[in-house]
Amino acid sequence: MTMTQQPNPQGQPQLALTGISKHFGSVVALDNVDFEVYPGEVVALVGDNGAGKSTLIKIIAGVYQPNAGMITFDGRAVHLSSPQAASALGIATVYQDLALCDNLDVVANLFLGRERASAPLAGPLRQLSEEAMERQAIDVLHSLSVNLPSVHRPVAELSGGQRQSIAVSRAVLWGSKVVLLDEPTAALGVEQTALVQQLIVRLRERGLGVVIISHNLADVFKVADRIIVLRLGRRVGTFQRRATTPEEVVAAITGGVSLAGEEVH
Ligand SMILES: Nc1ncnc2c1ncn2[C@@H]1O[C@H](COP(=O)(O)OP(=O)(O)OP(=O)(O)O)[C@@H](O)[C@H]1O
Ligand SMILES: [Mg+2]
Repeated sequence: MTMTQQPNPQGQPQLALTGISKHFGSVVALDNVDFEVYPGEVVALVGDNGAGKSTLIKIIAGVYQPNAGMITFDGRAVHLSSPQAASALGIATVYQDLALCDNLDVVANLFLGRERASAPLAGPLRQLSEEAMERQAIDVLHSLSVNLPSVHRPVAELSGGQRQSIAVSRAVLWGSKVVLLDEPTAALGVEQTALVQQLIVRLRERGLGVVIISHNLADVFKVADRIIVLRLGRRVGTFQRRATTPEEVVAAITGGVSLAGEEVH
């Protein structure tokens, strides 16, 4: 079943970072880090506070520029010089605060901000009528099995999980190939967390590469194919989820005895 489907290791990564370093003054946030996500793969990025996870995500999202290293997307070298450059390539970021407009309805939020996007899709889609936008919104939500009371509700009236689902659906609607989620379930209850996890599985089934940051290892073990561990700005472990245990991953996070997963992949 697709939950346990493994990425094809012979295939080309959708996104690959090589030798990435990032300094903030004298703080070395990332030190010579490699990172890769394959199409149809869910990678969990884990590590202690300050390990460098958000810094790495922000480099992929075009928010920060690395001091060293190179990035390829679809096998081609790219320069993620701004968030717009990253999103134009098909890299979508879903931050915890989501950037939804509370007073607008679901449809408006799904199409929000695209007028300013430099993606080629923005041109023709800008002419869409309201009915066409509504139809497209309903289609994408339906295809991802996202159930909402109505697409005309202001998103302020929706639950945390539903709001998260809208942010992720927006990424799918706009043809993203990689979706980055920084702590997607941190503020959610059990049922809402399950909704978001199901949605992540659907992104994988559609062949997207998904990167999630989570402090909750139980969640990580539910959705991730691969787990990459950062410690003090370095990549110290790589684990196939089906071939490891939470204990082994915790040991890598804390620098404990077991580093058995290191160098796997
Ligand atoms: N804008 C910044 N300016 C200065 N230092 C920063 C900046 N952003 C991050 N750092 C430092 O870089 C290191 C890595 O931070 P980062 O936020 O990437 O960690 P993290 O793994 O996301 O941690 P957390 O789990 O707490 O979110 C930390 O030492 C942090 O203090
Ligand atoms: Mg962080």
